[in-house]
Amino acid sequence: MADTISIIIPTYNEKDNIAPLLSRVAKALSGYSYEILIVDDGSNDGTIEIASDLASRYPVRVIVRRNERGLATAVVHGLKSAAGEIIGVMDADLQHPPEVIPELIKALRDGADMVVASRYIEGGGCPHWGLSRRIISKVALVISHLLLPSTRPVKDPLAGFFMFRRRNVDPAKLKPIGYKISLEVMLTGRFQNVVEVPYIFEDRSAGKSKLNPRQQIDYLRHLFSLMARTGEIKRLMKFCAVGLSGIIVNQGLLWSLTEFAGLRYYISALFAIEASIISNFVLNDYFTFSDRRTGRGKSFLVRLLKFNVTCLAGAGIQYVLLLLFTSALGIHYLISNLIAIAVAFLWNYFMSSWWTWK
Ligand code: GDD
Ligand code: MN
Repeated sequence: MADTISIIIPTYNEKDNIAPLLSRVAKALSGYSYEILIVDDGSNDGTIEIASDLASRYPVRVIVRRNERGLATAVVHGLKSAAGEIIGVMDADLQHPPEVIPELIKALRDGADMVVASRYIEGGGCPHWGLSRRIISKVALVISHLLLPSTRPVKDPLAGFFMFRRRNVDPAKLKPIGYKISLEVMLTGRFQNVVEVPYIFEDRSAGKSKLNPRQQIDYLRHLFSLMARTGEIKRLMKFCAVGLSGIIVNQGLLWSLTEFAGLRYYISALFAIEASIISNFVLNDYFTFSDRRTGRGKSFLVRLLKFNVTCLAGAGIQYVLLLLFTSALGIHYLISNLIAIAVAFLWNYFMSSWWTWK
């Protein structure tokens, strides 16, 4: 049974790319039942007219938004009027080679519920990129893996070239900001099985990229919004609260062991530190990371050990940074200490999220 496919393509001033794009998409999809939706945000270079003219040759519909701009929201707009059960999203500038589409469809038919064309798995890449673009892309990737744990299994969650089954997505939940529509769909949809298919990110065939610093800020705003919507901000706040409770445990024990058990303060401190690590661990295990506690091969003791290692290494980092900032950079030791505490906090959080409660 052949499901209908809707390919959604956002455009803004892509006049020289439309004809070759449609011809290559049509060739790649011959034999399939499909439609192409061009969602244009009021291009003034003739893109709309060229695309509309080609509607007599290809199954293409042109949707024009007049009062809105933005790649990702354009895709959402297209999704709302798409007819297909299988939805594909790609750029218009031929950086996403249409010839890959049948492989994406095959992955869906083989059981994936979302399939992402990937530059960062074996066989994929972006050979035309210079060093700075490469670095920016990798940094963006690491940030998304850090802040949004559910993207971690996917090597290239930021590509704008992907397909999914429409029934797994509720368009009303899609509230993207900026460019990364794949991230928005992946995190708000119901996906069990996201598969990656390699592709080579080609050179832009004509026209200019619309990427600018504004999109990088939008990316961070978008990540923040997704963190809020997926509960990751709440998790971070819980981790903070647990950390604060640890200070109480630590101080309380230091005081009572010294005052009432007759220990020297530097001996009490050792017990106080370990006790606060353990109490933080138990609270994080039952509260902050309760959703990641169970599963194959996840043992309480192993987690406890990992958390200890993380916290002790965190304390080491804090100490080294304190010395470094104070003696090498000449910063006041109390300010250095605050910076060092902040870095150690982030270290503890990310190691907990990445390793202890993987
Ligand atoms: N409708 C609409 N509105 N389309 C837009 C807009 C807009 O405001 N801005 C860009 N587009 C369209 C372009 O016409 C093109 O078809 C596609 O979106 C991608 O825009 P580019 O400006 O070529 O983006 P890029 O190549 O720099 O970035 C692409 O690659 C990144 C991977 O590194 C995008 O696919 C990103 O999402 C992707 O992360
Ligand atoms: Mn591009």
